[in-house]
Amino acid sequence: MSDILTHIDAGVMTITFNRLDKKNSITSSMYAAMADAVAQAGADPAVRVVVFQGHESIFSAGNDIGDFLNQPPSTQESPVFRFLRGIATFEKPLLAAVAGPAVGIGTTMLFHCDLVYAGDNAAFSMPFVNLGLCPEAASSLLAPRMFGYHRAAEALLMGEPFFAEAAQEVGLVNRVVPPTEVNGYAQAQARKLAAKPLSSLIATKRLMKGDQQAVLQKMDEEGQSFGRMLREPAAKEAFGAFMEKRKPDFSKL
Ligand code: COA
Repeated sequence: MSDILTHIDAGVMTITFNRLDKKNSITSSMYAAMADAVAQAGADPAVRVVVFQGHESIFSAGNDIGDFLNQPPSTQESPVFRFLRGIATFEKPLLAAVAGPAVGIGTTMLFHCDLVYAGDNAAFSMPFVNLGLCPEAASSLLAPRMFGYHRAAEALLMGEPFFAEAAQEVGLVNRVVPPTEVNGYAQAQARKLAAKPLSSLIATKRLMKGDQQAVLQKMDEEGQSFGRMLREPAAKEAFGAFMEKRKPDFSKL
């Protein structure tokens, strides 16, 4: 079965991470499938709302680390950037249902969602520094904007997980529910939205978001640093350590 499942019902496209054996980590082909699905959702009048969801035990472990090593994103046309630009500029409502860990892009993609629901087992983290990398998905702009600078600095410099209640307090999450209920809850909210006039939803979102140019520019800027850092010794040490199931040693870097 595919690692990304898409399903359209009652005006709602649901995009499901379906790679549980690898903790829903995301490969290049999964980004491509999601970018295509988001583009299709934007163009198809039968889709009024999109929901991202994972499993009740894990949302996503972020980028597939092996994939990073074997085929690092090289150009702005790489599937990951296509996906990120797709969600950052998506006109219709985007929702996410998050249970369990949401690592790296599993958290940063949520800055581009309009409504986020979390299971009480949700654990958000942006461990880019711990991987010898820098933020992506415009999170270096959007996390300080949403959380306030010091809380964003804690999340992005320490890279430690923060949990559902804290995520709700900083405004990343709208509502916390039991993990077994989060996908159903998000789906019910999406259906309520899908029954509303789409033109009003689109106009309201556009007015709230304003000009996305700064976001897209920050994504490009981050993407350039990220791409360079992926090839540098700190990231190589971090990824090597992950593959070998040991602690990384940055003492000489
Ligand atoms: N890329 C590739 N494989 C991954 C992965 C990732 N990001 N995250 C998990 N996996 C794989 C593991 O290698 C393991 O594979 P194996 O069974 O072949 O050994 C399998 O998924 C299960 O992972 P495991 O770490 O044993 O699960 P866990 O429940 O103990 O921990 C996480 C779950 C998400 C906390 C942990 O897997 C993790 O921290 N992953 C890395 C997250 C990360 O750094 N992502 C990059 C962000 S930019």
